[in-house]
Amino acid sequence: MSDLWRGTTATRLRIASGLVLFIYALLHFLNIGLGLFSTELMHAAQDWRQVVTRSIPGTILIYGAFTIHLSMVLGRLALRGTLRMPFWEAAQTVLGLMIPVLLIAHLVHTRTAHELFDVNDEMGYISLLLYNTLDGWKQCALLVLVWAHGCTGLHFWLRGKPWWRRSLPPLRALRRLSPPLHWWLPDRSAADRREFSHSRKP
Ligand code: HEM
Repeated sequence: MSDLWRGTTATRLRIASGLVLFIYALLHFLNIGLGLFSTELMHAAQDWRQVVTRSIPGTILIYGAFTIHLSMVLGRLALRGTLRMPFWEAAQTVLGLMIPVLLIAHLVHTRTAHELFDVNDEMGYISLLLYNTLDGWKQCALLVLVWAHGCTGLHFWLRGKPWWRRSLPPLRALRRLSPPLHWWLPDRSAADRREFSHSRKP
């Protein structure tokens, strides 16, 4: 078994559920991004995504992953003897705990409203409703939070792997394409440099 999957059952569950949520968020954000090129393309991608996300197995997978991830994080926090932790871990925990608070209204406005009252929840319509409103800005904050939390989690999971370290320079080049990436990657590389110099101190 790969050393990436070492650890307790709780750790493995946290990693596996985190990966499911990361993939969900990545596809959701790419779907929104398609709207920059064409509304038709964005709606076609949404229809394809929903074949999975609105199916019963897809719903169980996504909402199950969300419940497991949150429970594992809260459980780990409750079992700690102290709240003293490295800055990155504290930031990761606080960012993670803010996600459900911001996400709940979004779920009510989209899937719940659609399923219960047949409200239109097409990307274009929702984006138009959100445009330049407080809810819209909250959604943008949620997007940045989710991305920062997911990328930080992924980085601290994979940082021991040489192939991941090798992929960091091209990823840093990619950051130019995305403001959230731009914000996150320089931060991570500075943290890495600090960690590296500490580990080399006698
Ligand atoms: C401006 C940003 C956003 C827009 C325009 C947007 C738009 C939408 C739309 C149209 C839906 C309903 C249909 C579908 O699933 O595609 C939806 C659902 C959803 N969104 Fe967003 N979203 C945004 C940001 C986010 C963020 C940051 C997250 C956090 C992960 C998120 C998570 C979800 C979830 C979990 C659902 C419910 C999916 C389901 O159960 O079917 N969204 N969003």
